[in-house]
Amino acid sequence: MPTKKVLYEGKAKQLVKGPNKDTLIQIFKDDATAYNKKKHKIFKSKGVLNNKISEHIMLLLTSKKIPTHFVKRINDREQLIKKCEIIPIEFVVRNVASGSICSRLGIKDGLKLKRPLLEYYLKEDSLDDPIVSRDHLELFGWATKKEIEKIDQMSLKINHCLINHFKKKGITLVDFKIEFGRLSSNKKKIVLADEISPDSCRLWDNKSKTKLDKDVFRKGLGNLIDAYEEVASRLGIVH
Ligand code: TMP
Repeated sequence: MPTKKVLYEGKAKQLVKGPNKDTLIQIFKDDATAYNKKKHKIFKSKGVLNNKISEHIMLLLTSKKIPTHFVKRINDREQLIKKCEIIPIEFVVRNVASGSICSRLGIKDGLKLKRPLLEYYLKEDSLDDPIVSRDHLELFGWATKKEIEKIDQMSLKINHCLINHFKKKGITLVDFKIEFGRLSSNKKKIVLADEISPDSCRLWDNKSKTKLDKDVFRKGLGNLIDAYEEVASRLGIVH
């Protein structure tokens, strides 16, 4: 079978045409990158794990009435998704301080935040994805005030669902990055897009604080696949 034309190639995923004009197929690759591609490595089967973990989370969120782009998993590496226009912002939710907030603001790593913190980063590799304010989003037309309000609400609800879900599996949801899009079939409809996986979250074992996410690769802490398999296994995903 001829391979389909790649419409978009990201660091860890590709998008190709779907079976109709309002769908796409999202393909999970084995590439892991960090520090804006300064670090890059292939981990055999990472894409398969992320595809299944993201499917599990998208289905959970759908059951909680959060609209997503996810339609179904097609096979080990591919999912059918609804086509949307991606808002060029990385929406980050933090529950515990770690990563860039610590280096940027001198906050202690592991500090539990009094309430979830919402941050916005412009998706622009050439600028190293700079942090921006809500006002920037509105003023430069990346999202309307109404869209930002909706996205903030959805982000907090997603955070609430995921904190509880991971907690039952002995995992602390430290932070995560999500993306949203406007459905091609209805531009007014905002949906959760992209993926939610250990590539885009910080997940710590509740007791030992062992890292079960991409920080294992970023910081060279051990075997990335073992960490992702641990997450998949705790979520009850057979790999
Ligand atoms: P940060 O601490 O580096 O700002 O990351 C916050 C969260 O967002 C963390 O869970 C990792 C995730 N993230 C991505 O998924 N992609 C990115 O490009 C960045 C910068 C962070």
